[in-house]
Amino acid sequence: MTGRLTAKQHVQKAAGHELGEVFDAIATAARQIARKIRFAGLSDVIGAAGAVNVQGEQQQKLDVFANEILTQELGKVRSVAAIVSEEDEEPVAFQHEGAKYVVIFDPLDGSSNIDVNVNVGTIVSVQEVAGDLQTALKQPGSKQIAACYVVYGPSTVLVVTTGAGVASFTLDEDDEFVRTADGMRMPEQGPYYSANEANASSWPPAYREYIAMLQRGELGGKAYSSRYIGSLVADFHRTLLKGGVFLYPPTAKTPRGKLRLLYEANPLAFIAEQAHGAATNGATRILDLMPEEIHERTALIVGSRREVDALQKAVLAAGDSL
Ligand code: AHG
Ligand code: MN
Ligand code: MN
Repeated sequence: MTGRLTAKQHVQKAAGHELGEVFDAIATAARQIARKIRFAGLSDVIGAAGAVNVQGEQQQKLDVFANEILTQELGKVRSVAAIVSEEDEEPVAFQHEGAKYVVIFDPLDGSSNIDVNVNVGTIVSVQEVAGDLQTALKQPGSKQIAACYVVYGPSTVLVVTTGAGVASFTLDEDDEFVRTADGMRMPEQGPYYSANEANASSWPPAYREYIAMLQRGELGGKAYSSRYIGSLVADFHRTLLKGGVFLYPPTAKTPRGKLRLLYEANPLAFIAEQAHGAATNGATRILDLMPEEIHERTALIVGSRREVDALQKAVLAAGDSL
């Protein structure tokens, strides 16, 4: 598709040359991950890698591949001081004198869906390293310089914000991410709620009552349907386009929430807010949470403002907040 801006050109225009280089590296890695996924069944990248990651989760071969590619491509960018990955216990620092960004990512999101040919993704957050790296990693999500995700599905789509709205790019037949939308806005209210209801019995009661209220059509008279893909990026992408709410409340197994603050909740919360949506942990705006450690988890409720505000009001009224 000619005449359309590429992801690198869009970011360069919006936020300068150096950040454009970071997103060029992310796009290069995403192209290779997309290709690996497309032909996964023909090569041996399906299945477990035989190791367990820092999360105590069975690493999939594609988790390892995606992590290696992103580390390799970002390691070539002089303005990247370090990376933090879901798959690595500690940050990986590069010898890049005066580099100003730390890039924090979930290289392959939705790993449980790889073997069944369902959408998976990559999620990335970019923070500035003003002083030392440890201080940079304790910044709230509101300080993010940029965020993006890639959803690998029937088409491969990259969605980006640098703080001036949300744009999407689609991988075209020339293997280039070309801009297909800009100034994206999440609908005020949506037709779907998205949650793993198998956990409902161990949610704080306010969350069960909230879902029941949506099912009864008591939020603005809207009737809701349920959609849950089990890949956060895919569930979020549908919410960005159609509206509604995604929620992963605290459960008995994950009382602090399952999703990771730095490389799942923060980048998606930044994109949601830039598209006039909202994101909370049930009590506090996600972007205001002060991280203590790089792999910490949080409850995540993200989506259209109408649904997220109603949830936060219900949870605070019940005193169920974390
Ligand atoms: P990851 O594959 O990076 O570990 O992330 C999986 C996450 C997220 O993608 C999804 O929303 C959630 O796990 C699904 O969890 P449940 O299977 O417990 O519903
Ligand atoms: Mn994930
Ligand atoms: Mn992952």
